[in-house]
Amino acid sequence: MKMYLPLDSAAVALGADDVAAAIAARFPEATLVRNGSRGMVWLEPLLEVEIDGVRHGFGPFETTDIDALSGDLANHPKALGPVDDLPWMQRQTRLTFARVGVIDPLSLDDYRAHGGVTGLERALSMTPAEIVTETTDSGLRGRGGAGFPTGIKWKTVMEAQADQKYIVCNADEGDSGTFADRMLMEGDPFTLIEGMVIAGIATGATKGYVYLRSEYPIAIEVMNKAVAIARQQGLLGASILGSAHAFDMEIRVGAGAYVCGEETSLLNSMEGKRGVVRAKPPLPALEGFMGKPTVVNNVISLATVPVIFERGAQFYQDFGLGRSRGTIPLQIAGNVKHGGLFEIAFGLPLGEIVDDIAGGTASGRPVKAVQVGGPLGAYFPRDLFDTPFGYEEFAGKKGLIGHAGLTLFDDQQDMLKMARFAMEFCAIESCGKCTPCRIGSVRGVETVDRIAQGDASAIPLLTDLCETMKDGSLCALGGFTPYPVMSALTHFPDDFATTAQEAAE
Ligand code: NAI
Ligand code: SF4
Repeated sequence: MKMYLPLDSAAVALGADDVAAAIAARFPEATLVRNGSRGMVWLEPLLEVEIDGVRHGFGPFETTDIDALSGDLANHPKALGPVDDLPWMQRQTRLTFARVGVIDPLSLDDYRAHGGVTGLERALSMTPAEIVTETTDSGLRGRGGAGFPTGIKWKTVMEAQADQKYIVCNADEGDSGTFADRMLMEGDPFTLIEGMVIAGIATGATKGYVYLRSEYPIAIEVMNKAVAIARQQGLLGASILGSAHAFDMEIRVGAGAYVCGEETSLLNSMEGKRGVVRAKPPLPALEGFMGKPTVVNNVISLATVPVIFERGAQFYQDFGLGRSRGTIPLQIAGNVKHGGLFEIAFGLPLGEIVDDIAGGTASGRPVKAVQVGGPLGAYFPRDLFDTPFGYEEFAGKKGLIGHAGLTLFDDQQDMLKMARFAMEFCAIESCGKCTPCRIGSVRGVETVDRIAQGDASAIPLLTDLCETMKDGSLCALGGFTPYPVMSALTHFPDDFATTAQEAAE
């Protein structure tokens, strides 16, 4: 009997390790693969049992459900049927996440059997300039949040003259409600490695680093093991797959500062300095890690590169909407019925994601707001649920898609409290380098408190303060904190007015 049970952090947090130990004791003859998560977090731990080559799901699986596995599996109380036939799986277009949850994350043979390494083999037959053009033609944009074209970033590094260049993968996924980077690294680490190797060949970089947050111990362990396997089997080292190209990489662990997800403070942290933002220019592409030309790309950007080279730029760019090409791994969280990872082509209206895919709130109450793009993203009310999921489409509604995290809130949520939380978050996480962010966020908390106490004259002051932070901050932390604050104020004025009225009464 062959079974699969995720080693993914979400599954482990919900008891997967206990289930794995109990299965090993009860069915010692069975093969138990610890895979990545399929992304249906409400079904974790999701046990899969292979029956006649088809993987049947059982979940959320508890140790008390093990005995019934000896009986008629179709009538098992947790039986879900074939996992690939579940509506959540059927509706997706899984390109970046095609192998996550499917393969054994630490088997290079399994990786190859599911299309892995094919993209790298193709890239090895191309010149660096051709690789860069293929990446540009795919339309791939930085998935960390800024959406900068990946191919253009690589071109800058390729053309830079230097004795040493670097590929740095930003895996400091600090936004609340986001987990795509972690799931990818835990479930399909070779995809990230392959993407980094292709980036290295394209730009002439021979050394790579993954800057991985310390809060992800399982991802750190899986990535370290995968790098060692890749090195043993010729995917990394002095001669990539027997070619004249060299590339090696290592994992660097962060120390828990949100601002180290910003690329220049990340580089400072990697160099052993305090994680403070550097002014740009110079761009990291020209003067990055140790002053050398450096590609800094997010996990999902790099992990999408192999499928682009496997299937071709045109195949990838055929998906999407407007200038947002390809697919986007949505991370759905908060007060939600069906939370998890859902990869789909850009363009789906927000309302369809919230109502159809996520199934609304876990509380069963009406959805009041969805915060899109992490703690610095705007709150979208139902009036804006027709917004298609895309970079420009969200920017046009004074929002951002960021790292594509969506957090749902029901009608009992007080949006004034959320505006206060945004300012407080910025005050705690500010690196302190510039005044609008360092002092503005503290004044912001005080100003929201004045509004909460009924001082309506503080509302224009809050608006002014947000303008100053937006225009005067050095990086996105101070510059984007006004998004949640102003969207809460604009779309949910009652939450700001009621308190004033109540205080006056
Ligand atoms: P940015 O817009 O300054 O730059 C984007 C990227 O392109 C950077 O890596 C930059 O170095 C690179 N770049 C720009 N011009 C280049 C050129 N000519 N050649 C090569 N590389 C070039 O964005 P930044 O400061 O990195 O981040 C701000 C953005 O990040 C915001 O737009 C925001 O949407 C997003 N963000 C998202 C968060 C999230 O995950 N929710 C959190 C914080 C920020
Ligand atoms: Fe630092 Fe905030 Fe200024 Fe960014 S905006 S550089 S986090 S003080």
